Amino acid sequence: EEIKVFCPATIANVSCGFDVLGLALDSVGDEMIVRKTSAKGIRITKILGQDLPLETEKNVSGVAGLALLHESNFDGGFEIEIDKRIKPGSGIGSSAASSAGAVWAMNELLGRPFSHLQLVKFAMQGEKLASDVAHADNVAPAIYGGFTLVRSYDPLDIIPIPTPSELVATVIHPQIEIKTSDSRKILKTTISLEKGIKQWGNVGGLIAGLFQNDYDLIGRSLQDHIVEPIRSILIPGFDEIKANALASGALGCGISGSGPSIFALSKGMETAQSVAESMKETYSKFGIPFDIHISKI
Ligand code: HSE
Repeated sequence: EEIKVFCPATIANVSCGFDVLGLALDSVGDEMIVRKTSAKGIRITKILGQDLPLETEKNVSGVAGLALLHESNFDGGFEIEIDKRIKPGSGIGSSAASSAGAVWAMNELLGRPFSHLQLVKFAMQGEKLASDVAHADNVAPAIYGGFTLVRSYDPLDIIPIPTPSELVATVIHPQIEIKTSDSRKILKTTISLEKGIKQWGNVGGLIAGLFQNDYDLIGRSLQDHIVEPIRSILIPGFDEIKANALASGALGCGISGSGPSIFALSKGMETAQSVAESMKETYSKFGIPFDIHISKI
């Protein structure tokens, strides 16, 4: 018995929501085949597209899958084949796609014994392996779809948020690798009250905008006063890409997860395409290869 699943790429943080907000892309992601076996444990049999470890304990899908198996009364195991299209270190949730895809597929094959929240907990073990921190802002949207808010980590509380129908993401991925663990190390561990006030005002505004289909409010709220000023230094051309994306009509633009990908959200496909054009034009002069994705959420 086997199942083939789509494992979506995700944009974590979404500007103002460091470690708590995330969204899943509709049409960018990996594919994974998971097979039930009578042999116990998890075997990763094939990874296409990227050079990643096949050893179960060193692979995020293996580790997430083991966390699920450990809580399950299933006596057998699973084999995993991954068609890895999202590059590791790209900032669009490569590890989350593999972790979430594996546990999603296993849960389906077992007749859905686990809730979405439990699947997020298992997938977070994969994130811990990848980035040293079991953050849930990529795996939660990968499991629930759409936008999600991690209201609390302890206890884990995930809130699915509705997505206005015309919201489209444009993502540019400069082909440089930034490890999440490295781009977390450069962050400060304290913030000023002044910045906090701005930031939580925007988180509330973004959530309200998503519920009310208020694109202007979404745009006003897509700001990050805490993480972006520090991390953007690692991304060549960030300021220019952002300024030009906003001039092309994007509602907002920021770093996708821990970078180097940069995302913009737009109202409607046409604007998202103009934003993609502006990103292409802006980045062409930086001499770094890149690719661009446009996707509904
Ligand atoms: N919230 C995490 C970070 C996401 O920004 O470090 C990593 O994809």
